[in-house]
Amino acid sequence: MNNNKRFLAIGLTIGQLLVASLHAQTNSQWMKEQYRPQIHFSPQEKWMNDPNGMLFYKGTYHLFFQYYPDSTVWGPMHWAHATSKDLVHWQQQPIALYPDSLGYIFSGSAVVDRYNTSGFGRDGIVPLVAIFTHHNIEGEKAGRNNFQNQSIAYSLDEGKTWTKYAGNPVLKNPGITDFRDPKVMWYQEGKKWIMTLATKDRITFYSSKNLKDWTRESEVGSSFGAHGGVWECPDLFSMDYEGKKVWVLIANINPGGPNGGSATQYFTGNFDGKNFIPFKTDTRWIDYGKDDYAGITWHNTGTRRIFLGWMSNWQYGTVVPTKKWRSANTLPRELSLKKVGEDYYVASMPVKELNSIAGPTKLVENVQAADRDLTKNFGAFTGLAKLDITTDKAESFSVVLYNELGEKLVAGYDQASNQYYVDRTASGKVDFQKDFAGRHTAPRFSNKPSIHMTLVIDHASIELFADDGLTVMTEIFFPNRPYNHIKLQSPANMLWKKIACTSLKSIW
Ligand code: FRU
Repeated sequence: MNNNKRFLAIGLTIGQLLVASLHAQTNSQWMKEQYRPQIHFSPQEKWMNDPNGMLFYKGTYHLFFQYYPDSTVWGPMHWAHATSKDLVHWQQQPIALYPDSLGYIFSGSAVVDRYNTSGFGRDGIVPLVAIFTHHNIEGEKAGRNNFQNQSIAYSLDEGKTWTKYAGNPVLKNPGITDFRDPKVMWYQEGKKWIMTLATKDRITFYSSKNLKDWTRESEVGSSFGAHGGVWECPDLFSMDYEGKKVWVLIANINPGGPNGGSATQYFTGNFDGKNFIPFKTDTRWIDYGKDDYAGITWHNTGTRRIFLGWMSNWQYGTVVPTKKWRSANTLPRELSLKKVGEDYYVASMPVKELNSIAGPTKLVENVQAADRDLTKNFGAFTGLAKLDITTDKAESFSVVLYNELGEKLVAGYDQASNQYYVDRTASGKVDFQKDFAGRHTAPRFSNKPSIHMTLVIDHASIELFADDGLTVMTEIFFPNRPYNHIKLQSPANMLWKKIACTSLKSIW
């Protein structure tokens, strides 16, 4: 990766100095590029997809991710690495895992092996162990069905460097073409590791005492959920609801999402160390927008459950109009369980750490506004903001981001269908792929009389959290000029109880 290049001025010729200063400029310019996310992690250059191996250890949040250092489109996969102290500000680190003779390094997870079950620990150092899929490209090209196998690597220096285990792969493919993306957790009741693995359009659970020898426990999913595509990047964890332990199974799916393409479905239920039994067989989506995929949660964050997704969609991820890099992640989100009637829902809200980049909040209260440009109240819109909206009743309304070219992004609520929506039909550059433009919808689950919506806006994305995270939508956009206005639209007599606009500062 050339983003870590350093140039020593001492002893350089003038020519070298000129080159050096050019590089320094390029290196500091990356965060100003058109569409560069300012409050989301994106790699300085080249291709990124799924978040991998997210773990928290000794005060640092680690984020590994699918990465191809030679191109802005997908290719031989590596695990790249970034770290953060607060989930908001990120430092990109050297690549952690390179492809090898067993294959590309596909998605997976990482754990703190506190009891040194793997035996990789030395001199009292707790090993971090990564569990990932080796994808053998020759095997795939030759039409074999066993080209994806699970392997492990360990780190004894808090995630800086990784050593692949000599006995890889640790879980061999029994002949299932899609056999990947291991997410591993410690199951305390059984004192064993549980691996949740995506196997075709379902999940297979494996268990292990040492992260090296794995036993098949059960398979689940063929009789519930969405099956419009292959299941990928699963996750399994428990959450507390008023003293009751509820298990959540995440199964990303591609294609087959609620608005087309890739998306993250989940189920609530029970898990006994062997079987997962869902409470309900219908699918719920962590995020109904088009741009939250391959999302899973951080390991080792105590009672917090923190989720992060890839903010794109396989329908068009490789052709979005960014030049030097492709893709960003969603905001890290705190998951919680909520109940509506008898049903459990997983709600997501931005992590509280986002407040560390909050500027002043400006407020408008109790206004009736059929069509109101907020510039008068809040000043010119600079492209980074959190809007918190509370209405008096659940009536139709929209928030419009727009520029002087007439390009606009519309987010809102439609009373007749009881749906939230994001419409990016006229949002700017939309014709790079046929499935990008469109009006995308999500059901409202809450039965509260008024609507509370949080919108987090970056230079190329909007994240909509309605009813305290019960319904979420994430969508990216590419206006030809930045949106510099926000306006509200609603029936003339609708009462906007509160509109709070908090400006956000760039994380770079
Ligand atoms: C999901 C996915 C995973 C796979 C990885 C490859 O986006 O297809 O299933 O491990 O990407 O980059």
